[in-house]
Amino acid sequence: MNKYKIAVIEGDGIGPEIITEGIKVIDKISKLNDFEIEWVKYPHGSDRYLATGELITDETLHEIKTNFDAIYLGALGDPRVKPGIIENGILLKARFYFDQFVNLRPIKLLEGVDCPLKDKKPEDINFTVIRENTEDFYVGIGNRTNIGKTRQELEVVRSLYSAKFGLDIETQGSEIAYQIGVVSQKGSERVIRYAFENAKKQGHTLVTAVDKANVLSDVYGLWREVVEKVSKEYPSIDHEFNYVDAITMWFVKQPEHYQTVVTPNMFGDIITDLGAMIQGGLGLAPGGNINPNGISMFEPIHGSAPKYKGLNVANPLATIWAGALMLDEIGETKSSDAIVKAIEKLIVEKKVLTKDMGGTNTTSQMGDEIARLLEE
Ligand code: IPM
Ligand code: MN
Repeated sequence: MNKYKIAVIEGDGIGPEIITEGIKVIDKISKLNDFEIEWVKYPHGSDRYLATGELITDETLHEIKTNFDAIYLGALGDPRVKPGIIENGILLKARFYFDQFVNLRPIKLLEGVDCPLKDKKPEDINFTVIRENTEDFYVGIGNRTNIGKTRQELEVVRSLYSAKFGLDIETQGSEIAYQIGVVSQKGSERVIRYAFENAKKQGHTLVTAVDKANVLSDVYGLWREVVEKVSKEYPSIDHEFNYVDAITMWFVKQPEHYQTVVTPNMFGDIITDLGAMIQGGLGLAPGGNINPNGISMFEPIHGSAPKYKGLNVANPLATIWAGALMLDEIGETKSSDAIVKAIEKLIVEKKVLTKDMGGTNTTSQMGDEIARLLEE
């Protein structure tokens, strides 16, 4: 029997409630399909941070790296903590530490889900966004002239800016801030190759690469060159380039065009929120932070919804679906498919639904129902 060890970070707000349902569903399918999961919970999140000042510790990260198969994450974020602290100190920290260079976000309108786009059916909205997850504007290289963080590149930016615009920002007494996006050939190549492999695996004939090479021509010029280079290894798969502004329009107007979409980090952040909306809302959108040769982390795309904490009303489907992505990644593909089918069935039947989907059921009733449907 296959055995796996999964680290669980329930996180903040509704995190613990939705993760409970995800675990319930996976425990059920593991019994039915004969594999075993050992869950180990880690307490990192806003409560812990507020009480002790601790974010995710090196000890936890190391332990997970050496002993675990994957991470299952609920949700993070709390209004009592200044924006950026938890995001950088836990979520991004883990993405970087485990080098999870792929952010996998399936955009799939399930049977039975209300789509906000007029006349679009499940067969029209079914594509995968592969978001680069460790580079671009997320590298954390930036500074402001007035807050006294000294960094080498500050002087460089200051003089480049002055030379270009003829402004001496020091004498004019105002401030500049900058944030540098970095794209590397290696970093692009591995995620773009992952996208083409994904296309191959799913029988797709087109990979769409997103950028803004008409303005940010250095970073995305390199990105494009790498797309061209990698595409040569896949002669049976077409590729095209979409500017990020244009793709937001086409996601709404013609989502049926897309199969595999590969995007730099920040544009991927933005377009996958739109993707989540056209697949029926954030309540349904799962994501995986993947290192194909290491530890991957799975989470719903939505946030921690602090005002619903503890009320047992949150929709657990995105988390349950993220759990299905996790099973696929660790090799339990049959069980992964069964969970997605059960989600679909639940939505079509419309008997057990949480409030956001027009029902009156609780978070735990929805998890129970998915577990029950797995038996059918
Ligand atoms: C996401 C989130 C994160 C991101 C934030 C919370 C750092 O928006 O997973 O899409 O920007 O990647
Ligand atoms: Mn986001």
